[in-house]
Amino acid sequence: MKVAPSLLSCNFANMGEEIKKVDRAGADWIHLDVMDGHFVPNLTIGPAIVSAVRPYTELPFDVHLMIDYPLDYIDAFADAGADIITFHIEAMSDILMTIDKIKSRNIKPGLVIKPNTPAEDVFPYLDKVYMILVMTVEPGFGGQSFMEDMMPKVTAIKNECARRNLNVLVEVDGGISEKTAPTASKFGVDICVSGTGVFKAQDTAAAIESIRNA
Ligand code: DX5
Ligand code: ZN
Repeated sequence: MKVAPSLLSCNFANMGEEIKKVDRAGADWIHLDVMDGHFVPNLTIGPAIVSAVRPYTELPFDVHLMIDYPLDYIDAFADAGADIITFHIEAMSDILMTIDKIKSRNIKPGLVIKPNTPAEDVFPYLDKVYMILVMTVEPGFGGQSFMEDMMPKVTAIKNECARRNLNVLVEVDGGISEKTAPTASKFGVDICVSGTGVFKAQDTAAAIESIRNA
């Protein structure tokens, strides 16, 4: 499994160095959580911060938009240096137009589903996306407990992709640590996002390594 540390749990006053730390510790991607205080009840970072920290690593930036009207912000995050942009299927925006807009900027598109959204809702878009992100917590805050009961959605998406011969990555986000990563691994997850599990660990490299090899 690939590991994408979520900067939500890093020291925001020292974000550049925190990125370098997880890069040196073996991270595969950097996960950036963008929240608008409307789609989710929290506010985090915008394109200015993404752009400011872009020079600190060459690892792919996996930008997770928890905002309404994601279509209106694709250019800003593309200019800021995103490599992958995921947006919520529940957000207010035309889904196909948003996917096309992301692709037009040479960025890989992904769709995200919240815990109450069924896996089947993403099926119409599986041939158009690079990745599906299955939330394993209610989006908005780091440090919540992993919802193991989301795993059947991973299986449903994987089975549907296999049936249609599609190659789509499946990422999980929320409550992933060395303790919960084995469950994700058992269900064939491709990428684990981990905030608290990586940034609050005593040994960053060991935490990343144990999630990867779970
Ligand atoms: C939640 C975010 C996650 C979160 C993960 O809304 O999308 O990326 O930061 O943090 P942990 O790993 O602490 O659950
Ligand atoms: Zn996230």
